[in-house]
Amino acid sequence: MFASGYGSNLEAIYTAISSHTLRGVELVLVISNNSNSRALAFAKERHITAKHISLLKFGNDEEIFQKELLKILADMRIDLIVLAGYMKKMPNGVVEKYLGKIINVHPALLPEFGGSGMYGLNVHQTVLRSGKRISGATVHIVEGEYDSGKIILQEICPVFENDTPEILSDRVKEIEHRILPKAIQIVVDRI
Ligand code: GRF
Repeated sequence: MFASGYGSNLEAIYTAISSHTLRGVELVLVISNNSNSRALAFAKERHITAKHISLLKFGNDEEIFQKELLKILADMRIDLIVLAGYMKKMPNGVVEKYLGKIINVHPALLPEFGGSGMYGLNVHQTVLRSGKRISGATVHIVEGEYDSGKIILQEICPVFENDTPEILSDRVKEIEHRILPKAIQIVVDRI
């Protein structure tokens, strides 16, 4: 699992596995580009291997960064990668090696509200500015380009007139926590 921030989606996956709602899955590795990420602390507390790895740590050398990532993933025998609030682009070599086996959760409806810059509260701000009365969350397969790739699951929620990006984010996150474990199950059952 890759996460950059709070890790509520990591928690949702962890809970789904612990309660046997999500079956045939073992959560063995959490990687974050952010050393202060709560996701890393959450994993450590539960004795899940947690690593702080970033492009910056490798002097912005993308090749070394990619090589290091591929090595860790191979050493840990990872067969499925979940990006849950991971704010960085996955190196192309990793996407190619794990084609069809990288899942991302996006806090809006794709394809309309995706692409470069559409992350964090920006996405919700853009949805609010668009005047759309519906938003939601999307879980999709990662295939190189930002937020592209086959959609696995999507669920909608209403957007209200007085919503702020933060309020809308909370509403969307509830959906993410529900559909991400379900989408993982769908992909795992196919592998
Ligand atoms: C989620 O809304 C995710 O869709 C987005 O970043 C947020 C991460 O939340 N990419 P958390 O770290 O899982 O709490």
